[in-house]
Amino acid sequence: MSKQRVLITGATGQIGSELTIALRERYGKENVIAMGHRRKPSEVLESSGPYITGDVRDREKLEKIIKEYDIDTVYHMAAILSATGEKDPQLCWDVNVNGLYNLLEIARERNLRIFCPSSIAVFGPGTPKENTPQDTILTPTTMYGVTKVVGELLGEYYVQKYGVDVRGVRYPGIISSETLPGGGTTDYAVEMFYYAVKGERYTCFVKEDTVLPMMYMPDCIKSAIQLMEADFSKLKHHANFNITAMSFSAKELEEEIKKHIPDFSCEYKPDFRQKIAESWPRSIDDSCAREEWGWKPDYDLERMVKDMIEKLTKKYREGRL
Ligand code: SER
Repeated sequence: MSKQRVLITGATGQIGSELTIALRERYGKENVIAMGHRRKPSEVLESSGPYITGDVRDREKLEKIIKEYDIDTVYHMAAILSATGEKDPQLCWDVNVNGLYNLLEIARERNLRIFCPSSIAVFGPGTPKENTPQDTILTPTTMYGVTKVVGELLGEYYVQKYGVDVRGVRYPGIISSETLPGGGTTDYAVEMFYYAVKGERYTCFVKEDTVLPMMYMPDCIKSAIQLMEADFSKLKHHANFNITAMSFSAKELEEEIKKHIPDFSCEYKPDFRQKIAESWPRSIDDSCAREEWGWKPDYDLERMVKDMIEKLTKKYREGRL
């Protein structure tokens, strides 16, 4: 493997912020450059290694950064998520498709390795909802989903046509305690914890029987690193691996949280995001990821909830929530 000089786009986001710290621990802090855009970086993100601002739509600047820092690997986490994407589909296309295209073109010229996450949003009403197969019908109804299908296809095209090393997983909803997600449909599964820990009543924006596939952040980070360190020649798929860790309804999450915080109360008032949630799978078949690069999650619902509550309670007591 090459020497690993890493750039992370979207480094101030929910996944990017924790991925940056994990990669700095693994490859050395000077070798991992965090790039953010609009969100303010946390203190730890700025102080633990190089931090720069940049827009993935600006190809010239992106190329300059990649040259200047001698980057060979990019974790491309910058994206507009599903709910925000429905409010501004043009922006969603611009950032998600043109940003990725810029990066793939630079990767083609400079032989970069790219991690480009996809999402359960590539699926749609025509897709089997239970145990959704790896290779199946992709009929997304959100612009976010459309851009993620484009991303998967573009990634595979660059692998086949130019031999570029592009890899990616279809993330389910990601639950985490460090940085709040921004503008996704699965955000309720994170917000619920914050309200519960603060002793506040939560109004959930999907119905209580809405079931979606989910994953806890340590598994999310593990999957990215493990896929990027896998033997490329052994992969049959590249930029579109199904992965999952658990599936639960919003009500089941409420009940699990109540085991730790019995006074927690939650009501359900679905908004436009209900329809998006209903267009996505309830559970995922990730056997290809398991076979091709050894994927296996560590956290189920019970373990995830326990850890989330411990972490957030500590933050709350320290006045950091
Ligand atoms: N969590 C994302 C969203 O809800 C799915 O990839 O938009």
